[in-house]
Amino acid sequence: MRLWNGRTAWVISRYQDVKTVLSDERISADTIRYPQMHPGAEQMQVPAFPRMDDPEHARIRLMLTKDFTVKRVEAMRHQVRELVDRFIDEMITKGNSADLVEAFALPVPSLVISLLLGVPYEDHEFFQKHSVTINLPDVTPEEKSQASAALFGFLLELVKRKEREPGDDLISRLIADRVSTGELTREDVAMNGIILLIAGHETTANMIGLGALTLLQNPEQAAVVRDSDDPKVVANAVEELLRYLSIAQDMIWRAAHEDLVIGGQEVKAGDILAINLPSANHDESFLDNAGSLDITRNTRGHLAFGYGIHQCLGQNLARVELTEALPGLLRRLPGLRLAVPLEQVAFRGSMAAFGVHELPVAW
Ligand code: HEM
Repeated sequence: MRLWNGRTAWVISRYQDVKTVLSDERISADTIRYPQMHPGAEQMQVPAFPRMDDPEHARIRLMLTKDFTVKRVEAMRHQVRELVDRFIDEMITKGNSADLVEAFALPVPSLVISLLLGVPYEDHEFFQKHSVTINLPDVTPEEKSQASAALFGFLLELVKRKEREPGDDLISRLIADRVSTGELTREDVAMNGIILLIAGHETTANMIGLGALTLLQNPEQAAVVRDSDDPKVVANAVEELLRYLSIAQDMIWRAAHEDLVIGGQEVKAGDILAINLPSANHDESFLDNAGSLDITRNTRGHLAFGYGIHQCLGQNLARVELTEALPGLLRRLPGLRLAVPLEQVAFRGSMAAFGVHELPVAW
């Protein structure tokens, strides 16, 4: 395929090749070393850990993992359920139709990640607007750069404020445990805070919007999610939706450190690799009948959260949010339906994360 700068890149599409590439130490995610991998790389104020290789990547990731363990995020389930109910209550109070993205899919994960990080939710319009700009395909490098600088300034101010007035949140903990020891600078905390803020709301919001649409298009499977009182049935449905939808359509880039052979193809040192997760998750060598949705099947081993050392840090949190949001919607709004013909739904075709821009629904 052709890259943003006119060079060509290898597309890795088969399930086994994707796993091999994502677990090979000779393949890099470092955008400082290989800036052609990512058009926004040079706009980053300081490097962020997802775009680094080990050992530096692991050093920073390890500082964050304890906030994203199953135990830690399961402790947030109750709070997530309350938020889900609160936004559904608001939708019901306002009438019998809404844009599900604006009214529900975006605010729920935005609030959850804001609470976890300690970012004031009052600022959500500001950070949502700028993170959309950073991920838009058709904005100029200057616009991207401005959005990134605005977010960085916002987070850096927040870090300084939390130094004076710490709270019970991830940013305050990083300042107390890591900035005071010199392991991280304030700028590191601000940049990794941006990554968590963007990764933590955009992806899950798209999964909620697209997941809801997919269930509405498959009423028999939606009924299983709605009527089951077994959390395992819902959890399994969410895994299959994650696999089937594979929303991380254009966000996984790597570069070869050395000459290698991938899937029988020679790749030269410095070549760029575009990892096609949707196609890997739809590879029939991984799963029979992979092109169809079956929420009762076992999808163990799917790659919706990536694979290897960069596998999604927030996956446990995303699972809590999705297993609350999707059945919550179907149960509280049993008449939920799409309010426009499917052809009128605007999909996020060329964005890093696939989804819908708006989802007009009625109930
Ligand atoms: C359904 C929702 C989500 C999906 C589909 C998703 C998908 C992914 C994928 C595919 C990767 C691998 C990227 C790569 O290998 O280059 C990734 C990494 C990451 N995700 Fe998620 N994600 C989701 C939710 C979240 C949430 C809620 C957070 C919360 C903070 C988060 C934080 C991250 C971070 C920090 C990384 C980089 C990890 C590293 O490089 O070590 N994600 N995600």
